[in-house]
Amino acid sequence: MNTAHPSIIVDDSEIRQQALAVQRPQPLTEERRQQLIARIKQLLKEKNAVLVAHYYTDDDLQMLADETGGCVSDSLEMARFGHAHPASTIVVAGVRFMGETAKILNPEKQVLMPTLEAECSLDLSCPADSFRAFCDEHPDRTVVVYANTSAEVKARADWVVTSSIATKIVRHLHEKGEKILWAPDRYLGGYIQKVTGADMLLWQGSCIVHDEFKARELIKLHSRYPDAAVLVHPESPLDVINQADLVGSTTEIIRAATSMKNETFIVATDRAIFYKMKQAAPDKHFIIAPTGGTGASCGSCAHCPWMALNSLENLAHTLEQGVNEIQVDPGIGKQAMVSVKRMLDFAQSLKTPATGEANIASPA
Ligand code: 13P
Ligand code: SF4
Repeated sequence: MNTAHPSIIVDDSEIRQQALAVQRPQPLTEERRQQLIARIKQLLKEKNAVLVAHYYTDDDLQMLADETGGCVSDSLEMARFGHAHPASTIVVAGVRFMGETAKILNPEKQVLMPTLEAECSLDLSCPADSFRAFCDEHPDRTVVVYANTSAEVKARADWVVTSSIATKIVRHLHEKGEKILWAPDRYLGGYIQKVTGADMLLWQGSCIVHDEFKARELIKLHSRYPDAAVLVHPESPLDVINQADLVGSTTEIIRAATSMKNETFIVATDRAIFYKMKQAAPDKHFIIAPTGGTGASCGSCAHCPWMALNSLENLAHTLEQGVNEIQVDPGIGKQAMVSVKRMLDFAQSLKTPATGEANIASPA
């Protein structure tokens, strides 16, 4: 059952306005760029800090994370890497919920971000107060939330899931006869509902970047590249997902560049992922899936406006000054840790990482 409940209809026009208003950093001269790269490398050492960057951040940040012994990864692996690393400070280049997840898993460490203004439309669509009220209206349902949520929302959930393990966890709960309350991404929720047949009540949030991928234009593009494989992140609309050769998390999409034999890939996710895909398969050809159109909309460029806020300039500033520290209330963090840990233990029981594995089924 896929039910849109009246109390969870999300008006995302304000969130879209907020995304459009984001001022992306100005390009740097080559000289300034080199200066900042050298300075950041030095500061990371001096401050006993490690840089973890998401696949959607700009190439230079990904390069720096790799070259300085940090990591470039998906949201959960970023937090886990920071936890395992001996550095006392984790610098998270990504969006706020990623910094918060790092802090939840590493309460004893300092977690800094290049900017505290990097939001996520899924997180914004799911304010903790209305989410708690909604959960209270449905006490018979197991609450499963996507990692793209605030620490407070995670603290109210029974389970936190990432896109790479969401389907397995929901299937497991469904087999135990549990009904699900899912938040916040309606497309990912709808996809999981279709694959597992679980009874899911869906919060109606969406990712403003993936929401822009358009099914009709994708059909046309694919007809021009009939041998291309279509790789789709499950935050995309269902009619786009239905055309996928592979539906997968960010890590799985990158792996597909080498594990699939195709020479050309049409990719429906943030275009910054091409940095890692090209590194993995330099001779292959990657094309971004068609979006809503042209014009001044941040939504039409297939690059998250908030991820783009992370820059060499603000990363250097954060390290110099020790600013932009992520704080999570210890009580909330402890509670959120329970639902995050449930996912990690489940993954461990399957001997499957909670992140990065090819465990999202392709559509039939
Ligand atoms: P991952 O959890 O795969 O890193 O994805 C996060 C995200 O924001 C995708 O849009
Ligand atoms: Fe959130 Fe979408 Fe940006 Fe990912 S790409 S951080 S889901 S707004």
